[in-house]
Amino acid sequence: MKYDIRDIKLAEEGKQRIEWVRDRMPVLELIRKRFAKERPLRGICIGACLHVTTETAILVSTLKEGGASVLLCASNPLSTQDEVAASLVKDCGISVFAIRGEDNDTYYSHVNHVLDSCPVVTMDDGADLVSTIHKERRELIEKVLGGTEETTTGVIRLRSLESKGLLAFPLIAVNDADTKHLFDNRYGTGQSTVDAIIRMTNILFSGATFVVCGYGWCGRGIALRAEGMGANVIVTEVSPLRALEAVMDGYRVMPLVDAAKKADVLVTVTGDTKVLASEHFAVMKDGAIVANSGHFNVEVDIPALERLSVSKKRVGELIDEYAMEDGRKINLLGEGRLVNLAGAKGHPPAVMDMSFANQALSAEFIVKEGKKLDKKVYPVPEEIDRRIAEMKLQTMSVEIDKLTPEQEKYLSSWELGT
Ligand code: ADE
Repeated sequence: MKYDIRDIKLAEEGKQRIEWVRDRMPVLELIRKRFAKERPLRGICIGACLHVTTETAILVSTLKEGGASVLLCASNPLSTQDEVAASLVKDCGISVFAIRGEDNDTYYSHVNHVLDSCPVVTMDDGADLVSTIHKERRELIEKVLGGTEETTTGVIRLRSLESKGLLAFPLIAVNDADTKHLFDNRYGTGQSTVDAIIRMTNILFSGATFVVCGYGWCGRGIALRAEGMGANVIVTEVSPLRALEAVMDGYRVMPLVDAAKKADVLVTVTGDTKVLASEHFAVMKDGAIVANSGHFNVEVDIPALERLSVSKKRVGELIDEYAMEDGRKINLLGEGRLVNLAGAKGHPPAVMDMSFANQALSAEFIVKEGKKLDKKVYPVPEEIDRRIAEMKLQTMSVEIDKLTPEQEKYLSSWELGT
């Protein structure tokens, strides 16, 4: 079995952490038990490019129980938990290609190692497998039945391929399922981003001015949690609708160049490039802390920060202090990569439970239905989304009401008024 990881001797520590998380992912556990009986993925090779975390370990072992062979590489050079990679290789027999801190060349050589296995199903977080297949490994297209995509940024890339008529196989936008983005993006990113900033810096949130760039589901979650810790939250947006929502949710909204002057902490989570740029670095306060929680490390214009600064010094684990010409210092967390995975452990297992239930059931759907699908980006089937919500409630021992036959009839009629 081929693999490339930091150190196989870390496996014991990884195993212990994976077991802790297993008990916190009960929906995936229900799916694992069914998969073990029914083996719906028998003989299927799945190539996965995901953050190599304890939660991902539960997902890939569930896919394996379903009969799949799985190869896994990292979807970000700084998100790999090396002990988890070691345990996946040693205890689960999964080929892992991921080393925390790997450089760009190693990252793409790992992506290509996974693709060398000729996957029938791709499972991406950020679309690097799919984009590499479309750009450089077109010989693989014929064998691919379809794939799944975990994150907003990945879905945007896939829709771009689709709109240009270039998409070569069907893909399921897992991100867009309600049981994914309403929980993972909002509560997962909210908690894990705040968690990472606190772990890395130990700053006091109470009374701090905290700027969130972007008010999508992730931005909403970060603002909510930062406010809950006592920060004064400012939101910046380009969409009038989202800006209005932020205002009515009780936040101050203003242009980023004005917010940057007031900020103690700035987090960008827009999915776009060069959001925090020269004009913002020029006006930031001395000691400002800058972080990114979007998928790629393009939201903070690091080359501009390098150009504008006179020196750079590492002042803590993954904290770089840039000294500006006028003496101000700006601190960049996690080299501008996803701060919640670079500086903490990513989203909690309780939300990844639903995200990865969507992944597992979407993979099963592709194996069953893939041949009938067009070369399009599809939503997760509604029955799957609903079933995951039902299973999650069941595992939380939460019961809900049912419509009476009279109520059902009322809702489907138009005749009845006052
Ligand atoms: N994305 C965000 N948090 C994650 C986690 N804990 N595991 C895998 N992918 C993630």
